[in-house]
Amino acid sequence: MTKIIKNGTIVTATDTYEADLLIKDGKIAMIGQHLEEKGAEVIDAKGCYVFPGGIDPHTHLDMPFGGTVTKDDFESGTIAAAFGGTTTIIDFCLTNKGEPLKKAIETWHNKAKGKAVIDYGFHLMISEITDDVLEELPKVIAEEGITSFKVFMAYKNVFQADDGTLYRTLVAAKELGALVMVHAENGDVIDYLTKKALAEGNTEPIYHALTRPPEVEGEATGRACQLTELAGSQLYVVHVTCAQAVEKIAQARNKGLDVWGETCPQYLVLDQSYLEKPDFEGAKYVWSPPLREKWHQEVLWNALKNGQLQTLGSDQCSFDFKGQKELGRGDFTKIPNGGPMIEDRVSILFSEGVKKGRITLNQFVDIMSTRIAKLFGLFPKKGTIAVGSDADLVIFDPDIERVISAETHHMAVDYNAFEGMKVTGEPVSVLCRGEFVVRDKQFVGKPGYGQYLKRAKYGTSKISKQNEKLTI
Ligand code: URP
Ligand code: ZN
Ligand code: ZN
Repeated sequence: MTKIIKNGTIVTATDTYEADLLIKDGKIAMIGQHLEEKGAEVIDAKGCYVFPGGIDPHTHLDMPFGGTVTKDDFESGTIAAAFGGTTTIIDFCLTNKGEPLKKAIETWHNKAKGKAVIDYGFHLMISEITDDVLEELPKVIAEEGITSFKVFMAYKNVFQADDGTLYRTLVAAKELGALVMVHAENGDVIDYLTKKALAEGNTEPIYHALTRPPEVEGEATGRACQLTELAGSQLYVVHVTCAQAVEKIAQARNKGLDVWGETCPQYLVLDQSYLEKPDFEGAKYVWSPPLREKWHQEVLWNALKNGQLQTLGSDQCSFDFKGQKELGRGDFTKIPNGGPMIEDRVSILFSEGVKKGRITLNQFVDIMSTRIAKLFGLFPKKGTIAVGSDADLVIFDPDIERVISAETHHMAVDYNAFEGMKVTGEPVSVLCRGEFVVRDKQFVGKPGYGQYLKRAKYGTSKISKQNEKLTI
């Protein structure tokens, strides 16, 4: 149905202006003043911003991990995402060594099909490089439109790949037009430190953080950057948490390397002391890399502001406290790693970032949507408000004050890591391809509405280094 959004303030990564939007056939058909169209439904966005839908580049929905499966699947996870102002997610498709990639991708399609209420794509995990994998990769890109590969440098004996695999993935990605993503922590050193901690009787959740210090993240980040330089390839470092890793990314970028960095809301507002909460509650805050000492937060905010880090992912990977996190009572290595973040990503960036003057409104849009669309082959279909783009839109009231709580969130999980945090600003209505998914804070979407996104090759919508400094 044709719609006109009136009286809102449109915000993109570069501009802020008042205009109406005409939506036809799921796309933005016109932007202008006093738009009229016979039969169109008129939506009043007075007092609100109109943002491009958020794009979450880092989710783990319905994912087996740590002897259990994440609580949020593609239905609850995408509903929560939509409430939070996200209209596209890119989820990580896990692979098993020796198994055809096609089979893993099929498994992920089956998880999402009939469930997702917003659009979605997949990144593909590379567990090892074999002749079979190398033969399949071009098809993964051409047929599935999966143009980003993920290599884990940590989780020894679970997901961890060796440096040879990382290097060969970088080389293959360069040839094929894909972006390599890394979880950058030194898994071998962590393995040693965790075994040592347990042998010394240190079993509490805080030891999760103490056995994965920032140096192991900085080291792995630097190593990944060096291998990227050697391969002449491109790299995206996921969930950056600390000064040591930011420094390596900044050094690489200063050298002119094609290296990008993502952080997550939890690292911007929570710190390591949360893992010391009594009654095993610290387990709610166990994910990898871990929360850091508070001073790292300022480094991360500055890095977002000055462009050393460019994106915000949620790293949504939710487990109930009861029955799931509790698997690690008496042994912190058995606590499933991950937290429920998909719903609060956009709000936290707005409230803590824009409202507190740490980033501009246009930077906010770039960090939570536009840059992600460009890096992951979705721009300009997604990630902006322009004629011809999908009408993925968030009508956002910037003045509402509210308190984040598990009692009101839409994730399926039994706690919220940001419980009690006051935020300003809230998505009121959210549209995906011109249809309301959330309307006046009520869910009106449909499981199965979300479409799978085949993404363009890396670099096809890349912005030049010169234009990289954002309007401030
Ligand atoms: O602890 C985390 N982050 N769990 C999800 C898997 C990953 O490392 O991203
Ligand atoms: Zn990770
Ligand atoms: Zn993750």
